Amino acid sequence: MPGSASDAEDFLSSSWMERRRVGYDYTNSLAAMVGEKHGVPYEELERFAKDNQHILEEFHKREEKGEIGFTQLPSTVEYREEVSRFLLKAKGKFDYLVVLGIGGSALGLVALQEALKPEATSPSTPPAGGVFPALYVVDNVDPSLVSSVLNRIDLNRTLINVISKSGATLETLANFLVFRSALIEAVGYQKHSRHIVVTTTLGEGYLFELAQKEGYQLFGIPLNVGGRFSVFSPVGLLPAGLIGIDLMELLAGAQYMKELCHSRPSMKNISFLSAVIQYLLDIRKGKGIQVFFAYSSLLRGLARWYQQLWAESLGKRLNRNGEEVFCGQTPLVSIGTTDQHSLLQLFGEGPNNKSITFLEVSHLPDQLAIEEEPSPHEMTDYLKGKSLQEVLLAERRATELSLTSNARPNTTFILPEISPFTLGELIYLFELQTAYAGELYQINPYDQPGVEEGKRTAYALLGRRGYGEKQKEIEKKMPPKRHII
Ligand code: PA5
Repeated sequence: MPGSASDAEDFLSSSWMERRRVGYDYTNSLAAMVGEKHGVPYEELERFAKDNQHILEEFHKREEKGEIGFTQLPSTVEYREEVSRFLLKAKGKFDYLVVLGIGGSALGLVALQEALKPEATSPSTPPAGGVFPALYVVDNVDPSLVSSVLNRIDLNRTLINVISKSGATLETLANFLVFRSALIEAVGYQKHSRHIVVTTTLGEGYLFELAQKEGYQLFGIPLNVGGRFSVFSPVGLLPAGLIGIDLMELLAGAQYMKELCHSRPSMKNISFLSAVIQYLLDIRKGKGIQVFFAYSSLLRGLARWYQQLWAESLGKRLNRNGEEVFCGQTPLVSIGTTDQHSLLQLFGEGPNNKSITFLEVSHLPDQLAIEEEPSPHEMTDYLKGKSLQEVLLAERRATELSLTSNARPNTTFILPEISPFTLGELIYLFELQTAYAGELYQINPYDQPGVEEGKRTAYALLGRRGYGEKQKEIEKKMPPKRHII
């Protein structure tokens, strides 16, 4: 069992890793449990997975050619070493770490921090000489967020990590300019470069050029790895390492999942099978929404990261042949038990257009026993001797049972524990699942033309040079009259 005394001895041995293997229970997505109208017949699933086995082979060929880069990250020693050298240099120098980034340049880090270092963001108290800096992720241009962070930190003791693959994202650059001038004011121009680290595409883009000019420390993002697939590059590794997350264990978890998936046939490959199930539920059973129901508040960040990964990768107008397909399942974050008292009513009795993906944790870091009451009462008697973890598990199971009996297809990922290893496994599993789903939908899961179009429109509205034509195009589309009451 994870957490036992023998664990320290056989850390990262094959039996240690096997005890932490993420499991996948897809029983309730099958027609046998929820009926043919809403579930997939087992034989159909098996046939489909077998008929599409070629997707796995083609994917691996493209990987070998270097077209797909994210699968190489767990075993890229160079990044881990480069980051470790910086961690040694930075040790004890900073009380605050401010990360400026958005989307794929921020959400992976938030997922890791919320699950593994929930204490790293302390909104009210500054770290009192703690070993690791307090983390603030600024992923919005909301002035109230920016000024609340500026008010809480001492810039003399702050490291700013600005992360942008393109080096051009409006929100990240705008926030960077605000933090940079505050920093220069606090520490002086001469010293300010010691407080800034830039993670971007090496050799191109505004941030790269600025870093070279000003002497900021630089970390690279491989060209063949997109933002939302970049957690295991310096995008996630550097800030995660700075707040004290064990990078070796994290990457070992990702590598373990990679080896499991890559060595197995389609029906045993957890990333592929889960992609196929979502695809069939969406296309054949009309489940256009995937509820990502995580039963631990520690996994909220992971759920939000997954939401972006699934939405931005699969929500596409055109397929690879340029035909209009308007595909993609809408991901929706839910946290158990909290959202049992908010969204569950809709999931159980509203339109049957959703597939539910549970995330269950077998052993949470704290179990917390429920104390016996001085005067026993029938309202609380049944809780005697139980832990909060047991209550959480029972509630998830109850939700699963009631949704299944209402013919709502659902599947469950089972995490033995929340640790760097299992988070590494899960993140890799979902990245690969999304990549495979892209192949099933026959779209490109690595681009985001809709987001890029939004970026161009914002540049034009803010008067960026070279966007005059776009400005005219926007003006032409303006309504002759606005209807506002
Ligand atoms: O996943 C993605 O590719 C996007 O969400 C990007 O990460 C996001 O748009 C930010 O882009 P950049 O890293 O270039 O600043």
